[in-house]
Amino acid sequence: MPSNKYWNDRYLNDDIGWDIGEISRPIKHWLDNYKKKNKKILIPGGGSGFEAGYAYEKGFKNTYYLDFSKVAVNKFKKTFPSFPETQIISKNFFSLSDFNGFFDIIIEQTFFCAIQPSMRLRYVNKIYDLLQKNGIVIGLLFNLEFKKDTPPFGGTKKDYKLIFEPKFNVIKMEKCINSIAPRAKNELWFCLNKKDKILL
Ligand SMILES: C[S@@+](CC[C@H](N)C(=O)[O-])C[C@H]1O[C@@H](n2cnc3c(N)ncnc32)[C@H](O)[C@@H]1O
Repeated sequence: MPSNKYWNDRYLNDDIGWDIGEISRPIKHWLDNYKKKNKKILIPGGGSGFEAGYAYEKGFKNTYYLDFSKVAVNKFKKTFPSFPETQIISKNFFSLSDFNGFFDIIIEQTFFCAIQPSMRLRYVNKIYDLLQKNGIVIGLLFNLEFKKDTPPFGGTKKDYKLIFEPKFNVIKMEKCINSIAPRAKNELWFCLNKKDKILL
């Protein structure tokens, strides 16, 4: 898995092609239309934090930002100084153990594609554990394969359904219609709902 140092160096070298410099348009649209402002939201691999900062400023006061890159965390704090310190989790996502069953919503924006495909099952198990009963995951996944051994790691709807379906109901997974221009036609908008009972 790309290490903490790998990500810190990418921020330090300003090699952050994934960073769109503002909130992702499809996620902004979703937040602008979602009314339940008291929900507990986690944005893992939050990076510069435009999604977390926007959500918080929009009134989602229970938004949590997570990233294990100190450089990203500091960048986020500088851009959004009023975001509560207690809602900034500077940890490895995979070792997050003290928030099990805590979140209602997890927002995915270029974090899943940052982790090695061999870790995807662990990602699915972790989001499952972090979510409350009936919790949801919304966001974006790449709808293409990059065929490289460094991030981003892409995939297809078929691949994603295969790994999510054992633990989540796939409510939506379809071509995103309001992607930013450089990602047009290459993203899937998805919504998952944590399954109540899992058949082992
Ligand atoms: C491709 S960047 C995306 C950042 C942000 N979501 C965006 O769209 O600008 C991936 C982010 O995930 C973070 N990251 C990668 N693996 C992580 C892990 N295991 N735990 C926590 N953060 C991680 C990196 O530090 C980086 O900020």
